[in-house]
Amino acid sequence: MPRLRIGDLETEIPIIQGGMGVGISLSDLASAVANEGGIGVIATAGIGQFEPDCYTNYMEADKRALQKEIRKTKAKTSGIIGVNIMVAISDYDNLVQCAVDEGANVLFLGAGLPLRLPETLPLDKLGELATKFVPIVSSGRATEIIFRAWEKRYSHIPDAVVVEGPLAGGHLGFKKEHINHPDYALEKILPEVVSVIKPYEEQFNKSIPVIAAGGIYTGADIYKFMQLGAQGVQMGTRFVATYECDASPEFKEAYLNCKKEDIVIIDSPVGLPGRAIGNRFLERVSSGIKETFRCPWKCLRTCDFKNVPYCIALALTNAKKGNLEEGFAFAGANAYRVDKIISVKELIGELVEEYMAVSMQGSRVGSDQ
Ligand SMILES: Cc1cc2nc3c(=O)[nH]c(=O)nc-3n(C[C@H](O)[C@H](O)[C@H](O)COP(=O)(O)O)c2cc1C
Repeated sequence: MPRLRIGDLETEIPIIQGGMGVGISLSDLASAVANEGGIGVIATAGIGQFEPDCYTNYMEADKRALQKEIRKTKAKTSGIIGVNIMVAISDYDNLVQCAVDEGANVLFLGAGLPLRLPETLPLDKLGELATKFVPIVSSGRATEIIFRAWEKRYSHIPDAVVVEGPLAGGHLGFKKEHINHPDYALEKILPEVVSVIKPYEEQFNKSIPVIAAGGIYTGADIYKFMQLGAQGVQMGTRFVATYECDASPEFKEAYLNCKKEDIVIIDSPVGLPGRAIGNRFLERVSSGIKETFRCPWKCLRTCDFKNVPYCIALALTNAKKGNLEEGFAFAGANAYRVDKIISVKELIGELVEEYMAVSMQGSRVGSDQ
């Protein structure tokens, strides 16, 4: 399999494990993926929820939890590790700075357009930082807006881009009516993003790899998107169904037990649609029942916490811990295909084998012509 190069970083396999909050991808999963030669990613969304003082000292709790997870991951691997930070999160600056200080190799910035970075970073010398910055986008237009803003503000551009299509799990960067529209399929938006980036690569004399995400399930899928111009892939759903994934057994069982028709699109309090496994909690919410909760600190800038029907951070924390009566599991459109829990090593082995089989076929067809 080709390697993925992001600046001076080079992976052994072009596979990134997508950051999965709340608590689904922490040090166990991230280190296992990094040890197999991919990029293992710690998600910061709701990371402080597992600290005892999360309701009283939330900013400190978030930062402490992230510090701990990065240090735990580094103790278990010398591979490449990333941190996923939602732009919509209230302590975005705090978490970006913490991840840089702790030596994360790559920062994946999603759920909103990362148009700015914390003032505390050396903004005039971003290229000298060891940490790489990678926005997550869902269109060529969003890519253009981000690159133009960075060029103007920092005379610097991001180090890679993840293009996340509408089949992904979790929050989606699409209007609800576009999710199933062929014009917004990953196959369509990936080449658009590649062409937006090209002139910037030339202008900055820098190679900007594009990473495809959303619905990628097999090694053949990886091959297909690499043929379409991606230099790597980001996968979430497949990594949930591993022993090392940091979620509870009940969360993983929801994946094993779900059917295609159970996977639904929800309106998240974040203000974006999201893809999840439908359950009684989500039925209750969509029937108009308002859950009672205490919001300690408006963790999402975009959350209208006085009017939303439930607290998404709490619901996802409950699910991560195994209480799916009072929460729900985010999942990609292909989650119904999961039929067993395997190790990260087995999963990566399978994906590499499938990729190699298709690429051999591809080169045979090519040489026959
Ligand atoms: C349970 C779950 C939680 C997720 N949480 C986040 C998150 O906190 N931040 C983010 O940028 N993406 C999140 N995602 C998206 C993944 O990082 C990844 O891009 C996506 O799942 C890829 O699609 P796939 O699941 O079809 O492989 C989440 C996905 C899942 C399944």
